[in-house]
Amino acid sequence: MKDIKELIELALDNKEKSYSPYSHFRVSAVLLTKEGEVFEGVNIENASYSPTICAERSALAAAISKGYREFDTIVITGDLIDTYPCGVCRQFMAEFFDDDTKIVIANSLDDYKTYTLEDLLPHSFGKKDLQ
Ligand code: THU
Repeated sequence: MKDIKELIELALDNKEKSYSPYSHFRVSAVLLTKEGEVFEGVNIENASYSPTICAERSALAAAISKGYREFDTIVITGDLIDTYPCGVCRQFMAEFFDDDTKIVIANSLDDYKTYTLEDLLPHSFGKKDLQ
């Protein structure tokens, strides 16, 4: 199982793979499944703008497409100090993250903060409301 520093290092290194010719704002996300598998995602922009996908949803789509449904940690890093996930990504995470999934906002190997989904999306609407 990769530790938090390894995940952050991967996220920082992978930022260069961002496809962001319009905003020039690079974001990278690294997702650790509960089984210990690692998936990477970057933001992928589009000339038509709205099809743009954020790094967090890109990583989640990769993992979910491989059959993973439970997540231990997501590390997010971007070109801004403290790049937090957008509202759409928070809602997307709410579908799959549990109370213990760690959301790590990383600036460097030694500068990062850890949150839960409840911290970032309190009073959320989700699966529980449709049962
Ligand atoms: N972006 C992300 O990838 N994740 C976020 O949570 C915030 C925004 C991307 C989308 C777009 O490519 C660029 O950052 C500027 O909004």
